[in-house]
Amino acid sequence: MVRILITGSNGQVGSEIIEYLRKTTDCTILATDITQPREQVEGVQFEYMDVKERVLVESVFRKFKPEHVYHLAAILSATGEKDPVITHNVNTTGTMNILSACVTHGVQKAFIPSTIGVYGPEIQKENAPLENYSTPTTMYGITKATSEMLFKYYHARFDLDVRSVRYPGLISYKVEPTAGTTDFSVDMIKHAALGKKYICYLKSDTRLPMMYMPDAMINTIKMMYQEKVEKRIYNFMAYSISPGEIESIIKERIPDFHVEYVPDYRQAIADSWPASINIEDSVNDWGFDCTYDAKKTVDDMLDHYASSI
Ligand code: SER
Repeated sequence: MVRILITGSNGQVGSEIIEYLRKTTDCTILATDITQPREQVEGVQFEYMDVKERVLVESVFRKFKPEHVYHLAAILSATGEKDPVITHNVNTTGTMNILSACVTHGVQKAFIPSTIGVYGPEIQKENAPLENYSTPTTMYGITKATSEMLFKYYHARFDLDVRSVRYPGLISYKVEPTAGTTDFSVDMIKHAALGKKYICYLKSDTRLPMMYMPDAMINTIKMMYQEKVEKRIYNFMAYSISPGEIESIIKERIPDFHVEYVPDYRQAIADSWPASINIEDSVNDWGFDCTYDAKKTVDDMLDHYASSI
């Protein structure tokens, strides 16, 4: 039975990956976060752990003795712009503390997600390449690009099997995301389901890379449990879509849904990112594959809200 430690376990990805790991792996999970979990999951222990605190991180690793680590604690793009110092401390220092503890405590495998936010405005807008990424202009992007360098260093210097994927905007309902720039997608669908008008903080034609959470989780676990991977980082994306296109899909089911576009500071963040990213290496190296296109995603989200509100 593999011992898995998760940081940021109450977040959008953390709360979902626990379920997928339990379904696919014979494991014991220690979930950690700085807030108490909303629900007790059978077979999952919980421990308070702030990744910024190195001594605490070391003591949790010493006690639990994890074999695999999923380091998901991070401050995302929109929140990141509000406090660059905290964003640096959580995302960069936190990642250093986790990488260091992984080496000290003999962790076999670590997952540290990255993001489309590592790309900057000078990268090609369509099909942005996996390699040769540009200079990010958000604090989130800067800290995640630094994390990519740090885990490559830990791999080269300490032979730590650390793997990563650059997530696009992730659409999901279990823990609704609010801290990112791509989160309008979830909020728009929820407003439609509730019969409410939605005020969107991006322009209607701002296309960004996106995918639905079940595809993100299945592909993450598939990549993590390959015996070997060619690359430390892979790009993830199912479709490139704008708020206006999501609105149109919703209107096929809810014709009187209304969206007003009032761009705010998040528009500049979105404008600095590519509209689509190249996923060829993910497909060729280990068979990245998505089941949900944009329409299936919106339908599944609306079905979920229809049955739960
Ligand atoms: N979903 C993230 C954000 O918008 C991007 O990876 O911050």
